[in-house]
Amino acid sequence: MHVPVLLKEVIEGLALSENDNFIDGTFHLGGHSEVILEEIKPKGKVLGIEIDESIFKKAKEKFDKNKRVFLVNDSYVNLKNIVFKNNFNDVSGILLDVGMSSWHIDESNRGFTFQKDEPLNMLFSKEGIPVEDILNNYPKEELERVLRDYGEEKKARKIAEAILKQRKEKPIKTTFDLINIIKVVLAQNTHSYPKIFQAFRIEANKELENLRKVLPQALEILKKGGRLAVISFHSGEDRIVKQFIKENKTCLEIVNKKPIVPTIEEIKQNPRSRSAKLRIIIKK
Ligand SMILES: C[S@@+](CC[C@H](N)C(=O)[O-])C[C@H]1O[C@@H](n2cnc3c(N)ncnc32)[C@H](O)[C@@H]1O
Repeated sequence: MHVPVLLKEVIEGLALSENDNFIDGTFHLGGHSEVILEEIKPKGKVLGIEIDESIFKKAKEKFDKNKRVFLVNDSYVNLKNIVFKNNFNDVSGILLDVGMSSWHIDESNRGFTFQKDEPLNMLFSKEGIPVEDILNNYPKEELERVLRDYGEEKKARKIAEAILKQRKEKPIKTTFDLINIIKVVLAQNTHSYPKIFQAFRIEANKELENLRKVLPQALEILKKGGRLAVISFHSGEDRIVKQFIKENKTCLEIVNKKPIVPTIEEIKQNPRSRSAKLRIIIKK
């Protein structure tokens, strides 16, 4: 089950009131939105966007009877269009809680974790490039770039070389195929595995590019005084948010100068929250 990250901080930071309209750009099963629905009752509406069709179907079922929830199976990268098509106006708050959910790790069977042997796919939707294709087709320099830029991996070149060597013998198909390659280069240094998997997932789904594209749309859509909250889990993502805030200083007000991070208690209860960073801004 996916536990919403920084829930209290998001609710306080968005400061929504009764009858406000809210957009959840990364709806999942509405962990944050469920609480927000209470904040904005009796008439406030939620537009929820979820890219993953399997999750979207579950969300549809769960909120089927709720007349204040409108769900769309699409990417937040199309935010402006989605808002326009659904005639969703007067938006007081937007949340982007980017990346994957616990469901992707526990149940999707798409290779999001190195702890289970699964096909190397890691896609949220049919768009993007399956990780299997990245590993078997990318030139060495591109693999190195993904590992270095997104995985902060010091041995990026060595791993890229090992991938090329392996795929000449046999295509790389599963998570354990990938682990068998990187464990030779990294020896016992298993703490890099999650970052390497995250790096390929980010490349596969164009996650940084998508985040870069959605932020100006979110700012445009918000009404004056409306708030945008972004939770990121990767230094590259947080850098994009920080840069966006810097570049748009004249149109926004910063709620928290430093990113809000989870308390030790939250990290203990939900270790997945440990790398989360929350930034909130207000549209001027
Ligand atoms: C961290 S989870 C959100 C969890 C949610 N806030 C909650 O607490 O229940 C991120 C969700 O965003 C979805 N997602 C990822 N990229 C997306 C995109 N470009 N557009 C819309 N949804 C996306 C994922 O499929 C996943 O369900």
